[in-house]
Amino acid sequence: MKSEIFDHIYQSTLPVIIKKFMSIKISYSSKAKSKLSTNVVLFVNEKFNTNILKKYISNSELSYINDLLKTSDLKKNIFVYEVNSKKKIVLISIKNNLKTSNIESLGAEFFGRVNYGKSCEYFIYADTADVGVNNNFIGHFLHGLKLKSYNFNKYKTKKETRIISINLLGNKNMPSAKAKLKFKSIEEVTFYARDLVSEPGNILHPDEYARRLISLKKDGLKVNIYDQKKLKKLGMHSLLGVGMGSVRGSYLVTVEWNGLKNNSKPVAFVGKGVTFDTGGYSLKPARFMEDMTYDMAGSAAVVGLMKSLALRKAKINAVGVVGLVENMVSGVAQRPGDIVQSYSGKTIEVLNTDAEGRLVLADALTYTEKKFKPKFIVDLATLTGAIIVSLGSEYAGLFSNDDKLSKQILNAGEEVEEKLWRMPLHKNYDKLINSKNADMQNINYVGGAGSTTAAQFLQRFILKKTPWAHLDIAGMAFSKYGGSLNSSGATGFGVRLLNQLIEENYE
Ligand code: BES
Ligand code: ZN
Ligand code: ZN
Repeated sequence: MKSEIFDHIYQSTLPVIIKKFMSIKISYSSKAKSKLSTNVVLFVNEKFNTNILKKYISNSELSYINDLLKTSDLKKNIFVYEVNSKKKIVLISIKNNLKTSNIESLGAEFFGRVNYGKSCEYFIYADTADVGVNNNFIGHFLHGLKLKSYNFNKYKTKKETRIISINLLGNKNMPSAKAKLKFKSIEEVTFYARDLVSEPGNILHPDEYARRLISLKKDGLKVNIYDQKKLKKLGMHSLLGVGMGSVRGSYLVTVEWNGLKNNSKPVAFVGKGVTFDTGGYSLKPARFMEDMTYDMAGSAAVVGLMKSLALRKAKINAVGVVGLVENMVSGVAQRPGDIVQSYSGKTIEVLNTDAEGRLVLADALTYTEKKFKPKFIVDLATLTGAIIVSLGSEYAGLFSNDDKLSKQILNAGEEVEEKLWRMPLHKNYDKLINSKNADMQNINYVGGAGSTTAAQFLQRFILKKTPWAHLDIAGMAFSKYGGSLNSSGATGFGVRLLNQLIEENYE
């Protein structure tokens, strides 16, 4: 195998420090200890009745808080009152009509306020969250806190640990065992996806990625790996062309969850898994290349979703399909101007080797439609820089041939704060990718609407009019400065979105 030769000359494994850097311990207790000398957290709102606090804090603290509430700008979410070096009183203001995502952001913001210095312990009086805003307030609050706490520190060798202990006190407003389990499984798979996206290109190359996906079998998923030899037999030259320059293999991996235990049509998800995108011979400049280790984020969302369906034994039949390749330069790499034949039979003139995601997805989409005959297909890909020009890092682009599916995805996005904006498809954009020498070319020369012409390209590989949506997540997969529910780095975008889409509409 080519890869073995490569291992002698370049580091492809790194030491992993097992010791955790920071951990959050959460405990629940119905006995509300009174007047604690450690940090306490209380929820307040405009109609707040301070009498209920008497149970929890001293009179002098209470009168200070009363003054604070009179003079404070309640638009601020979190107030921290330092009683002494050992005790802080944290007041978290609850506004009317809070959405679930606001509550999760509040938990994340709270994490930001306590995540410094040494290990610490907080007592949260859950009873004080009884302000009638959401019947799972505490559950969502802690979920936001946990999601925000993720950090990729696997390869840091400095061993320094911090424990944040959070004790929930009270009888009311506590999440049920079922809700806790659901939150935990979503956290687990979001972190699983973030871990995959964060791995550098020398570690998570296609061979290693395919190997890791085999372990999904442990969760009860059916995993099929198509290696180069099989893909060649199937005629997936569009996908294979992209991986030509790499010493690593190229793969298509299918992951199936049969939660209904019958043969009814599955829902399907397809992900771009370019483990590193140099651009190939249409080489990227350094500034645009360094982030390209994240170019497999679409595939991470898909496998993360599949894992979550298995963990929570979702009542649905679903399939995830990912194309795993590395886009490199070498003596045998694809050249600009090469013509390849895709799995669909259609020929493609590869005018730009950096527009490789669509070449990988083309074969994956046709295969998914043909093999699984799904109810719908949603693909996710860090496909174009142009979508970042359009939507920045606030919204992912949504392109679809189906209004119903679009609406469902948009609504799910609102619910979990993974927002999308629908972008147009039109036959006049489609014309722009016609080629003189082949059935189509992989970029448009007219210029403009780069994300739409990429989506038009993908649409040409949906052959049977299956409802389809393409999510261009180039601006959402990783974050330079951190977002409301994530610190900087991989976001795991798509996992919670797709899970919500299924839970709300298809279970
Ligand atoms: N992986 C990139 C898209 C990308 C850019 C993702 C920035 C995340 C951040 C994709 O393969 C690519 O290079 N697209 C080209 C297409 C062009 C050559 C038509 C692009 O967007 O520049
Ligand atoms: Zn590219
Ligand atoms: Zn790419």
